[in-house]
Amino acid sequence: MNDKELVAKHAAKQVADGMLVGLGTGSAANYFIEELAHRSREQGLKMTAVASSVASAAKAQQLGLTTLDFEQVSRLDLYVDGADEVSPELTLLKGQGADLVREKLLATVGAQFIVLIEASKLVARIGQHFAIPIEVMPCAWQLVKKQLEASGGHGDLRQNANKNGFAISSHGSLIADISFDRHIDAKTLNETLNSIPGIVEHGIFYGLATTVLVGINGQVQERQAICNNRRANRI
Ligand code: A5P
Repeated sequence: MNDKELVAKHAAKQVADGMLVGLGTGSAANYFIEELAHRSREQGLKMTAVASSVASAAKAQQLGLTTLDFEQVSRLDLYVDGADEVSPELTLLKGQGADLVREKLLATVGAQFIVLIEASKLVARIGQHFAIPIEVMPCAWQLVKKQLEASGGHGDLRQNANKNGFAISSHGSLIADISFDRHIDAKTLNETLNSIPGIVEHGIFYGLATTVLVGINGQVQERQAICNNRRANRI
């Protein structure tokens, strides 16, 4: 079993009967979905899921989990997802997939948000390995780009998988991958991106994770947030 699968199984143990659980997107989330399906089959676990993407919803349904449509959800017990980078303060960078809005909504409303990573995702600062994914209204791209450049950002729109057009989110937004020349701390960058009209969502998840499970050479290391933004707003 690899480290990602190990942490996914660990997280699935925290799911109890009656819970409404948010499913992230990506390989870590897929392991988590598989383990929930296993527990449902083998142990009679009775939970309901809501997915952050079409891909995760399809996987959950194929494996026999009961799912709700996004529109039916007004509260959430637990959200579980992977991340591309995790800083020492448990700020996350996400969005190598393209459904940031649903991911951040579920991460924000869940009573708990558990993040599943292997040790290679730990970084000293957000943006160390990846550009920041930014979801933009198509008509606003040129104006948003100017404002990002004024803040020291540079980059361009993401290509689709076939490299014959732009990547489009399930809500019809474009995705830009933007790097910043000088170091801007994650809190400031989060505030800057939140304040630019035309940006629908971005990949910095600041103050949202309650727990990060790190798989390190076959062991699970648990990191708890000391305090986070989300607690005050929790539904
Ligand atoms: C999906 O949009 C992303 O945010 C993923 O959660 C992130 O890229 C981590 O993916 P893995 O679990 O595949 O590493």
